[in-house]
Amino acid sequence: MSYKLTDAIAPHGGELINRTATADQKAAFLSKAESLPRVSLDERAVSDLQMIAIGGFSPLKGFMGQADYDSVVVNMHLANGLPWSVPITLSVTEAVAAPLKEGDLVRLDDSQGNYIGVLELTEKFSYDKKKEAVNVYRTDEEKHPGVAVVYNQGNINLAGPIWLLQRDPHPLFPTYQLDPAISRAAFQEKGWKTIVGFQTRNPVHRAHEYIQKCAMEIVDGLFLHPLVGATKDDDIPADIRMRCYEILIENYYPKERVILGINPSAMRYAGPREAIFHALIRKNYGCTHFIVGRDHAGVGDYYGTFDAQHIFDEFDPDAIGIIPLKFEHAFYCKVTNTMATTKTSPSTPDQRVHLSGTKVRDMLRNGELPPPEFSRPLVAAELAKAMKINA
Ligand code: ADX
Repeated sequence: MSYKLTDAIAPHGGELINRTATADQKAAFLSKAESLPRVSLDERAVSDLQMIAIGGFSPLKGFMGQADYDSVVVNMHLANGLPWSVPITLSVTEAVAAPLKEGDLVRLDDSQGNYIGVLELTEKFSYDKKKEAVNVYRTDEEKHPGVAVVYNQGNINLAGPIWLLQRDPHPLFPTYQLDPAISRAAFQEKGWKTIVGFQTRNPVHRAHEYIQKCAMEIVDGLFLHPLVGATKDDDIPADIRMRCYEILIENYYPKERVILGINPSAMRYAGPREAIFHALIRKNYGCTHFIVGRDHAGVGDYYGTFDAQHIFDEFDPDAIGIIPLKFEHAFYCKVTNTMATTKTSPSTPDQRVHLSGTKVRDMLRNGELPPPEFSRPLVAAELAKAMKINA
């Protein structure tokens, strides 16, 4: 299938960034493979490199310098005034940073030592980890998985524009690797003018389905965009989640109104700040609307149930440029035998079955299958197979 690029929905900052090396650039970079200083990237940095290169993080062209970093941490805007809520940094130890000079080209390797990209080092700077934690994650506790990453990474940030040497097909989900230029063209080909994006990192449950379908009533199409980059260890692996989505679309959705694509980036678990970040990413993929439900991108009890919705009020909606669709806590109502929220259900609290990704994960871990009020039967059967549970 081939798609034409559309500029129907402006990317964040107005231009869809492409930092994948051209054939000539790649040849030039490869010829320097042995002479460039090297930095090894962890899984998150590799996915950030890819997201920058494919335009998922437009307008970023590289890892953030100090002016952008400080402004993002404190003000949730880039130095040029555009909204941006999460630092995108390449952090290394002092020992790794010491020999590198500003102006150097730096070879970027993945953890197996494969040469995957180049950084033009424009700046190296130290930063205050606790300040980043408190501002971005609203806590300085190391048991928060996003804060733990910050505390465990190097003390120096390397900044500058990057190039990805080549865009490889995703090893697990090549057919779902719809990079922003492709998703935009796919929406255009479908004739969709309004597209709602959906972020998820959990096995799909019926509250997800409910809010997606509510949104589908008012837009042309759904872009189901599960995150498949690094997640915390107790989250359910992406391949299992993707199979659940395939089954859901195949059996319970009007297939022609849904496009499934992967979001290769890593989870931060930054709750409200991550909701803004997630919305901007989906804007870059061409969405006009973005679903924000209960405790979006939350973990533990760090965030209020609707903080990730309230944070949108702190921004100029035109500068955000994608419309958040905010949903109440959805549950199964035993009075009407439907999914509902307090806006639509006559139930009392004891007549509700509450659903969450955490609950589904806990049940699966205890060898239990989510009931039909939680998960569609075919999805539950897939989870049982994947998690080796005897249904
Ligand atoms: S997240 O970390 O990606 O936000 P999850 O995959 O569970 O986790 O959620 C995906 C989206 O569905 C988020 O916008 C979240 O707020 C929303 N959501 C999850 N469960 C519910 C629910 N019961 N009611 C309303 N929204 C929900």
